[in-house]
Amino acid sequence: MRLFVAIALPREAASELDEVVAPLRPAWPDLRWTGRDAWHLTLAFLGEVDESVTTELAVRLERAARRHPYLSLSLAGAGAFPGANRARVLWTGIQGDRRALGLLASSASAGAQRAGARPANSGRGYQPHLTLARCRAPADVNSLVGTLAGFAGTPWVATEIHLIHSRLSAQPRYEVIGTWPLRGALGS
Ligand code: 2AM
Repeated sequence: MRLFVAIALPREAASELDEVVAPLRPAWPDLRWTGRDAWHLTLAFLGEVDESVTTELAVRLERAARRHPYLSLSLAGAGAFPGANRARVLWTGIQGDRRALGLLASSASAGAQRAGARPANSGRGYQPHLTLARCRAPADVNSLVGTLAGFAGTPWVATEIHLIHSRLSAQPRYEVIGTWPLRGALGS
Protein backbone atom coordinates (compact mmCIF):
# COMPACT_ATOMS: atom_id res chain seq x y z
CA MET A 1 0.00 0.00 0.00
CA ARG A 2 1.22 3.48 -0.84
CA LEU A 3 0.73 5.49 2.35
CA PHE A 4 1.35 8.95 3.70
CA VAL A 5 0.59 10.87 6.90
CA ALA A 6 -1.11 14.23 6.50
CA ILE A 7 -3.13 17.06 7.96
CA ALA A 8 -6.42 17.74 6.21
CA LEU A 9 -7.45 21.12 4.91
CA PRO A 10 -10.75 22.41 6.28
CA ARG A 11 -13.50 23.14 3.77
CA GLU A 12 -13.29 26.91 4.32
CA ALA A 13 -9.53 27.02 3.71
CA ALA A 14 -9.96 24.90 0.57
CA SER A 15 -12.71 27.21 -0.71
CA GLU A 16 -10.56 30.29 -0.23
CA LEU A 17 -7.65 28.67 -2.03
CA ASP A 18 -9.88 27.39 -4.82
CA GLU A 19 -11.22 30.89 -5.45
CA VAL A 20 -7.69 32.07 -6.10
CA VAL A 21 -6.40 29.02 -7.98
CA ALA A 22 -9.39 28.15 -10.19
CA PRO A 23 -9.04 31.22 -12.45
CA LEU A 24 -5.35 30.43 -13.01
CA ARG A 25 -5.76 26.87 -14.24
CA PRO A 26 -7.07 27.52 -17.81
CA ALA A 27 -3.99 29.55 -18.82
CA TRP A 28 -1.68 26.73 -17.68
CA PRO A 29 -3.08 23.55 -19.24
CA ASP A 30 0.35 21.90 -19.32
CA LEU A 31 0.47 21.74 -15.55
CA ARG A 32 -1.19 18.82 -13.79
CA TRP A 33 -3.29 20.77 -11.31
CA THR A 34 -4.37 19.13 -8.08
CA GLY A 35 -8.07 19.36 -7.26
CA ARG A 36 -9.45 20.66 -3.99
CA ASP A 37 -10.60 17.20 -2.94
CA ALA A 38 -6.96 16.08 -2.95
CA TRP A 39 -5.56 19.03 -1.02
CA HIS A 40 -3.73 18.14 2.18
CA LEU A 41 -0.50 18.93 4.04
CA THR A 42 1.84 15.97 3.89
CA LEU A 43 3.68 15.29 7.15
CA ALA A 44 5.47 12.11 6.08
CA PHE A 45 5.42 10.16 2.83
CA LEU A 46 5.85 6.46 3.63
CA GLY A 47 5.83 5.05 0.10
CA GLU A 48 5.01 1.38 -0.34
CA VAL A 49 4.23 -0.19 3.01
CA ASP A 50 3.39 -3.83 3.63
CA GLU A 51 -0.15 -4.28 4.89
CA SER A 52 1.21 -6.24 7.86
CA VAL A 53 2.81 -3.05 9.16
CA THR A 54 -0.43 -1.06 9.43
CA THR A 55 -1.45 -2.27 12.92
CA GLU A 56 1.85 -1.20 14.45
CA LEU A 57 1.77 1.95 12.34
CA ALA A 58 -1.55 2.90 13.94
CA VAL A 59 -0.08 2.40 17.44
CA ARG A 60 2.97 4.51 16.64
CA LEU A 61 1.08 7.32 14.92
CA GLU A 62 -1.44 7.52 17.74
CA ARG A 63 1.45 7.89 20.19
CA ALA A 64 3.20 10.48 18.02
CA ALA A 65 0.04 12.58 17.61
CA ARG A 66 -0.61 12.61 21.38
CA ARG A 67 2.79 14.18 22.00
CA HIS A 68 1.99 17.29 19.93
CA PRO A 69 -0.31 20.27 20.49
CA TYR A 70 -3.02 21.58 18.23
CA LEU A 71 -1.54 23.76 15.51
CA SER A 72 -2.69 27.11 14.20
CA LEU A 73 -1.99 27.08 10.47
CA SER A 74 -2.78 29.13 7.41
CA LEU A 75 -2.01 29.00 3.71
CA ALA A 76 0.05 31.80 2.24
CA GLY A 77 1.91 32.79 -0.89
CA ALA A 78 3.46 30.34 -3.30
CA GLY A 79 6.72 28.80 -4.34
CA ALA A 80 8.11 25.98 -6.43
CA PHE A 81 10.34 22.93 -6.08
CA PRO A 82 13.19 22.94 -6.94
CA GLY A 83 12.73 26.59 -7.98
CA ALA A 84 10.38 28.81 -9.97
CA ASN A 85 12.63 28.91 -13.08
CA ARG A 86 12.52 25.16 -13.69
CA ALA A 87 9.67 24.03 -11.49
CA ARG A 88 8.53 20.47 -10.97
CA VAL A 89 6.00 21.33 -8.25
CA LEU A 90 4.04 24.53 -7.64
CA TRP A 91 2.89 24.94 -4.06
CA THR A 92 1.26 27.30 -1.61
CA GLY A 93 3.07 27.80 1.67
CA ILE A 94 2.09 27.23 5.28
CA GLN A 95 2.27 29.93 7.96
CA GLY A 96 1.58 29.80 11.69
CA ASP A 97 2.98 27.11 13.96
CA ARG A 98 5.57 26.01 11.43
CA ARG A 99 8.13 24.89 13.99
CA ALA A 100 5.59 22.75 15.83
CA LEU A 101 4.45 21.37 12.47
CA GLY A 102 8.03 20.35 11.70
CA LEU A 103 8.32 18.61 15.06
CA LEU A 104 5.05 16.75 14.42
CA ALA A 105 6.31 15.72 10.98
CA SER A 106 9.53 14.39 12.55
CA SER A 107 7.58 12.41 15.14
CA ALA A 108 5.23 10.93 12.55
CA SER A 109 8.20 9.95 10.44
CA ALA A 110 10.09 8.45 13.38
CA GLY A 111 7.00 6.55 14.53
CA ALA A 112 6.43 5.17 11.05
CA GLN A 113 10.05 4.09 10.89
CA ARG A 114 9.75 2.25 14.21
CA ALA A 115 6.68 0.48 12.88
CA GLY A 116 8.74 -0.82 9.98
CA ALA A 117 7.87 1.68 7.27
CA ARG A 118 10.61 3.58 5.54
CA PRO A 119 9.68 7.25 5.27
CA ALA A 120 11.18 9.11 2.30
CA ASN A 121 12.81 11.52 4.72
CA SER A 122 12.89 11.26 8.47
CA GLY A 123 11.74 14.79 9.12
CA ARG A 124 14.99 16.39 8.04
CA GLY A 125 14.59 18.97 5.33
CA TYR A 126 10.84 18.99 5.84
CA GLN A 127 9.34 21.89 3.91
CA PRO A 128 5.69 22.40 4.75
CA HIS A 129 3.66 23.08 1.62
CA LEU A 130 0.47 22.18 -0.20
CA THR A 131 0.99 21.04 -3.78
CA LEU A 132 -1.09 22.99 -6.30
CA ALA A 133 0.30 21.56 -9.52
CA ARG A 134 2.95 19.24 -10.89
CA CYS A 135 4.83 20.01 -14.07
CA ARG A 136 5.21 17.37 -16.79
CA ALA A 137 8.48 19.04 -17.75
CA PRO A 138 10.40 21.68 -15.78
CA ALA A 139 8.46 24.92 -16.23
CA ASP A 140 9.01 28.61 -15.59
CA VAL A 141 6.28 29.41 -13.06
CA ASN A 142 7.60 32.77 -11.87
CA SER A 143 4.49 34.60 -12.99
CA LEU A 144 2.22 32.13 -11.16
CA VAL A 145 4.29 32.44 -8.00
CA GLY A 146 4.05 36.23 -8.38
CA THR A 147 0.28 36.14 -8.84
CA LEU A 148 -0.15 34.00 -5.73
CA ALA A 149 2.37 35.95 -3.63
CA GLY A 150 -0.31 38.02 -1.90
CA PHE A 151 -2.57 35.09 -1.09
CA ALA A 152 -3.13 34.76 2.66
CA GLY A 153 -5.76 32.33 3.85
CA THR A 154 -7.71 32.46 7.10
CA PRO A 155 -5.95 30.54 9.90
CA TRP A 156 -7.45 27.33 11.21
CA VAL A 157 -6.57 24.95 14.05
CA ALA A 158 -5.39 21.46 13.10
CA THR A 159 -6.53 18.97 15.75
CA GLU A 160 -5.72 15.59 14.19
CA ILE A 161 -3.55 13.69 11.74
CA HIS A 162 -4.56 11.13 9.13
CA LEU A 163 -2.98 8.06 7.59
CA ILE A 164 -3.92 8.09 3.93
CA HIS A 165 -3.88 5.35 1.31
CA SER A 166 -2.98 6.69 -2.12
CA ARG A 167 -4.12 4.82 -5.21
CA LEU A 168 -2.24 6.03 -8.24
CA SER A 169 -4.10 6.80 -11.46
CA ALA A 170 -4.40 9.85 -13.73
CA GLN A 171 -5.68 11.68 -10.64
CA PRO A 172 -4.47 9.83 -7.51
CA ARG A 173 -7.30 8.81 -5.20
CA TYR A 174 -6.81 9.26 -1.47
CA GLU A 175 -8.59 7.26 1.22
CA VAL A 176 -8.24 8.04 4.93
CA ILE A 177 -7.53 4.78 6.77
CA GLY A 178 -6.70 6.16 10.22
CA THR A 179 -7.21 9.36 12.22
CA TRP A 180 -5.56 10.29 15.54
CA PRO A 181 -6.03 13.40 17.70
CA LEU A 182 -3.30 15.80 18.64
CA ARG A 183 -2.84 16.50 22.33
CA GLY A 184 -4.88 19.63 22.79
CA ALA A 185 -4.49 23.35 23.00
CA LEU A 186 -1.07 24.90 22.41
CA GLY A 187 0.94 25.01 25.61
CA SER A 188 -1.20 22.36 27.34
P1 2AM B 1 3.82 16.56 -2.69
O1 2AM B 1 2.45 17.09 -2.41
O2 2AM B 1 4.89 17.44 -2.26
O3 2AM B 1 3.97 16.04 -4.07
C1 2AM B 1 0.81 11.81 -1.58
O4 2AM B 1 1.42 11.42 -2.76
C2 2AM B 1 1.63 12.86 -0.88
O5 2AM B 1 2.90 12.35 -0.56
C3 2AM B 1 1.83 14.08 -1.74
O6 2AM B 1 1.39 15.21 -1.04
C4 2AM B 1 3.30 14.13 -2.02
O7 2AM B 1 3.92 15.32 -1.73
C5 2AM B 1 3.91 13.17 -1.08
N1 2AM B 1 4.91 12.41 -1.82
C6 2AM B 1 4.70 11.65 -2.89
N2 2AM B 1 5.85 11.09 -3.31
C7 2AM B 1 6.82 11.52 -2.46
C8 2AM B 1 8.21 11.28 -2.35
N3 2AM B 1 8.86 10.47 -3.19
N4 2AM B 1 8.87 11.90 -1.37
C9 2AM B 1 8.24 12.72 -0.52
N5 2AM B 1 6.91 12.98 -0.56
C10 2AM B 1 6.21 12.38 -1.52
